[in-house]
Amino acid sequence: MNNATTPVTHRHDVVLVVDFGAQYAQLIARRVREAQVYSEIVPHGITAAEVIAKAPKAIILSGGPKSVHVDGAPRLDPAIYDLGIPILGICYGCQLIAQQLGGEVTRGGRGEYGRTTVTRAALPSALMPPSMAREHDVWMSHFDAVTSLPDRFVATASTPDAPMAVIEDNEKRIYGVQYHPEVVHTTGGQDLLQRFLIDIAGCRGDWTMASIVDDQIAAIRDQIGDQRAICGLSGGVDSSVAAALVHRAIGAQLTCVYVDTGLMRRGESEQVVETFRRSMGIELIHVDAGDRFFAALKGVTEPEAKRKAIGELFVRIFEENTGGITDAQFLVQGTLYPDVIESGGSDGNAAVIKSHHNVGGLPEDMTLELTEPLRLLFKDEVRKVGTELGLSDEIVWRQPFPGPGLGVRIIGEVTPDKVALLQHADAIVREEITAAGLEREIWQAFAVLADIRSVGVMGDERTYGHPIIIRAVTSDDAMTADWARLPYDLLEKMSSRIINEVPGINRCAYDITSKPPGTIEWE
Ligand code: XMP
Repeated sequence: MNNATTPVTHRHDVVLVVDFGAQYAQLIARRVREAQVYSEIVPHGITAAEVIAKAPKAIILSGGPKSVHVDGAPRLDPAIYDLGIPILGICYGCQLIAQQLGGEVTRGGRGEYGRTTVTRAALPSALMPPSMAREHDVWMSHFDAVTSLPDRFVATASTPDAPMAVIEDNEKRIYGVQYHPEVVHTTGGQDLLQRFLIDIAGCRGDWTMASIVDDQIAAIRDQIGDQRAICGLSGGVDSSVAAALVHRAIGAQLTCVYVDTGLMRRGESEQVVETFRRSMGIELIHVDAGDRFFAALKGVTEPEAKRKAIGELFVRIFEENTGGITDAQFLVQGTLYPDVIESGGSDGNAAVIKSHHNVGGLPEDMTLELTEPLRLLFKDEVRKVGTELGLSDEIVWRQPFPGPGLGVRIIGEVTPDKVALLQHADAIVREEITAAGLEREIWQAFAVLADIRSVGVMGDERTYGHPIIIRAVTSDDAMTADWARLPYDLLEKMSSRIINEVPGINRCAYDITSKPPGTIEWE
């Protein structure tokens, strides 16, 4: 398979965020985009020549976990400081500027972690907006501190443990802040970033939803021309938005394939068909394959064996149904920017096909080029693009859902009866979360069907039924999660509705396990 990716031609101002490690760079890149300026994360080994090739309006050096004093601590190519491009260093980036330009960074006495107060000096500052209070709260996480300034620099603010917490060289437009303006706990952090980006660097704030959509449509048309593309829809946000965007660009040249495993949530398949075929007029191959999945899952109880059975059959069915589209040249994938950064860079030469089972097994002789119209975007931007394209909130705000679907939320053997029962309970959980107005605060909320039975009493009769476990978590990225503190009244409503409305269920439990040590799903 040929892994070329969608060429990106954009006409926006570009800000480079140089990544010195940890997760800071992504957060900075998102904050820059919130100021409507396009940002790109680049590795710290970037050379001055590579910077020039990208023609950025500004450069931000991120924080990082290392000390500038450690052997092998990452550095910036010193020639970058002489390019005349405005630079802002944050935390580690600030110390690096001080050290590389001839100042001094000293091991701190005790360091500062968490909230601290920054005090402005009685000096004019280009970086801090005039409206910014003389004293305000900022978020710190450092041990070392700048103690001597390079030539031309002035210190315009301090904290108890960082006498030079904000440093400025207005002539060369190079700045440093010891604290983290990208963190929400820093008062006025976004204002400071905005001041640097717009007032100092002259960025235009042209990264708007409408322009993102226009650019991507132009790029898709350039890439695909008058050829054909296929897209595997999963019902999730990313593939839905990718398909809608490609359809807007090339219309009837796109065919979507939706494999219904029979393990979807209640109403999900109907909604996919309704949205894509009926309202958007996309050519959609809807494969109703529930029976084949149930046959493959008969007698299978071990979680990994279930996943494997579902994954393999999915690939086979996807192949069977795309095999007929022999003239397609392109495969549309909903790869997002964080996947691109993690897989080695945003230059288009490090494209890796996601191991998602819906594309992992295309026939060898099918030479498809990838079209990845979301590969520059963060998840929140993808949602906005979806809304801009007219997709409903139900699709755009859909919770993540595992590829193996309800198959991994039924402990033990998966049967059509159990799936129907779980779909019913799951629909109640989601309906009540929506009714309580909590759907955007909760990362995932769902029901799990346990493979045990317990005794109860309903009316005058003894029952011996299954319990439903309600699981609701908050999270930013699914790597860690906390159990959601749902109001008792809401839990009570879910519990009584499930027990009264879903035959065979006589008990509800709420899962109060965070991740780690638990996982979000039960299998
Ligand atoms: P866990 O259970 O590992 O889940 O905490 C983390 C996130 O990943 C989703 N998930 C999956 N997604 N195929 C998928 O496409 C899978 O096999 C799978 N297992 C878990 C889960 O819903 C959560 O958002």
